[in-house]
Amino acid sequence: MASITQKRFSLHRRVKLQEHQNQALKSQLLALQHLASMGTVSYMIAHEINNLLTPLKSYASLALSDLDDRALSEKALQKVVNNCDRTAKIMESMLALASGQTHQEDNVRLLGLIEEVFTCLCRDFAKDGITVDIRVADDLTISGVPVQIQQVLINLILNARDAMLPGGGVLIIEAAEKVGSVEITVADTGAGIEPHDLENIFEMFFTTKANKRSAAENSGAGLGLAFCKMIVDDHDGTLSVESEPDRGSKFKITLPQPHSSNV
Ligand SMILES: Nc1ncnc2c1ncn2[C@@H]1O[C@H](COP(=O)(O)OP(=O)(O)O)[C@@H](O)[C@H]1O
Ligand SMILES: [Mg+2]
Repeated sequence: MASITQKRFSLHRRVKLQEHQNQALKSQLLALQHLASMGTVSYMIAHEINNLLTPLKSYASLALSDLDDRALSEKALQKVVNNCDRTAKIMESMLALASGQTHQEDNVRLLGLIEEVFTCLCRDFAKDGITVDIRVADDLTISGVPVQIQQVLINLILNARDAMLPGGGVLIIEAAEKVGSVEITVADTGAGIEPHDLENIFEMFFTTKANKRSAAENSGAGLGLAFCKMIVDDHDGTLSVESEPDRGSKFKITLPQPHSSNV
């Protein structure tokens, strides 16, 4: 019969082995988590690149449409260059966001950001029967990472547009200062959201657009709103929605009031 000392020794060895195995499992888990977040980031970047490629192609096609019109071609190519710069900035900011790096917040004029978004999108909303109504005071300032706030607006605007196709409607972007915060709303008169979908729309990969045939038709990846939520959370803000089927949707972003020091 094994002595107590031998038994204790064997137990001790088993505990050591177990600890070793636990440690190995932990590092495997960490590596897997890292891979999973890399996968998520790749998906998100692919989704955003897709959003940005459509206007790039439109501007490039415009430049090629009449090469004799040098002024038009130059203007269109300048937009291509500007959009490429913006795309690079956006990718950089998305990678920073995904890796948890702190970002550079700035106090910026909201109307300027919105105007840039519409130039960047290069989509003729009027052609789709959509009226755009922007009700934002010229001097309203928000605090945020400019390209990230623009990414949120791009996603909300493209969703609003999708919801109003093919019949058209009205897209209203409003902003107001509240006590301690700034509220931005993006509202549409489109299809609205069914109550049973409403609780899922901020989940990754939730989409009701999966059956569309091509990216040009905005087949959904279900990442836009998850991404918007991540950005707004990162700004210590909130993102919420009110919607009624067949009447439209209203997305509300609340951001902390800008610091007065660096306006
Ligand atoms: N403005 C809107 N009107 C109606 N439904 C919307 C609107 N915005 C988002 N949704 C719903 O939320 C879902 C998720 O949106 P999103 O995360 O941007 O993914 P995607 O646009 O790729 O489907 C959409 O598929 C749609 O069902
Ligand atoms: Mg979307």
